[in-house]
Amino acid sequence: MASLSASLLSHFLVLSLLLCVAVGEYPKCPGDTTVYHFVINKYYDNLTQEQVDTVISHYVDLTNYDSRVMQFLWGKDLGPEVEDRADGFQYGYLTTLCSVQDTIDYLNAPFTKAFADEFFPASEKAIAINYVVNHTFPGKGYGTSGKCGPCNLLLRDASI
Ligand SMILES: *[C@@H]1O[C@H](CO)[C@@H](O)[C@H](O)[C@H]1NC(C)=O
Ligand SMILES: *[C@@H]1O[C@H](CO)[C@@H](O)[C@H](O)[C@H]1NC(C)=O
Repeated sequence: MASLSASLLSHFLVLSLLLCVAVGEYPKCPGDTTVYHFVINKYYDNLTQEQVDTVISHYVDLTNYDSRVMQFLWGKDLGPEVEDRADGFQYGYLTTLCSVQDTIDYLNAPFTKAFADEFFPASEKAIAINYVVNHTFPGKGYGTSGKCGPCNLLLRDASI
């Protein structure tokens, strides 16, 4: 149980880190709502790099095709030289949508389901989370007062 929560926490930290890097440099949703559909996976070892690349290219095709998707970014974990917390997960895929309903519709669309039938059987393990960006503690790029999260932290540290 402890190791499960430690493992979940480490996943969350890895996800948070990736999201921090992604936010702010790319097109934003027109309204207040931004939804992230965030997936990490590990492919079966018996797949060739070419087979892995084919699956990823189909993920790109899917998200390029679906007009509900505002943005899609993927990449491979940089490995233990950078941070040894990936727990075997290899790739991250960040899909941005602009409403919860769009997210539901995207996930249930026939093309998405067809891709899921390719993606999950190719994956030894995969995790997907979906969340609406929360403005209670606005992170960098979503601040309301011009003070980003890390700046607030620095200010707090400086005042100690
Ligand atoms: C790879 O291994 C998995 C798990 O053993 C198996 O289900 C799958 O069919 C294999 N895929 C290929 C392309 O050999
Ligand atoms: C955002 O986070 C706050 C604090 O945890 C919570 O009270 C609120 O319900 C959250 N809002 C959404 C939309 O999840």
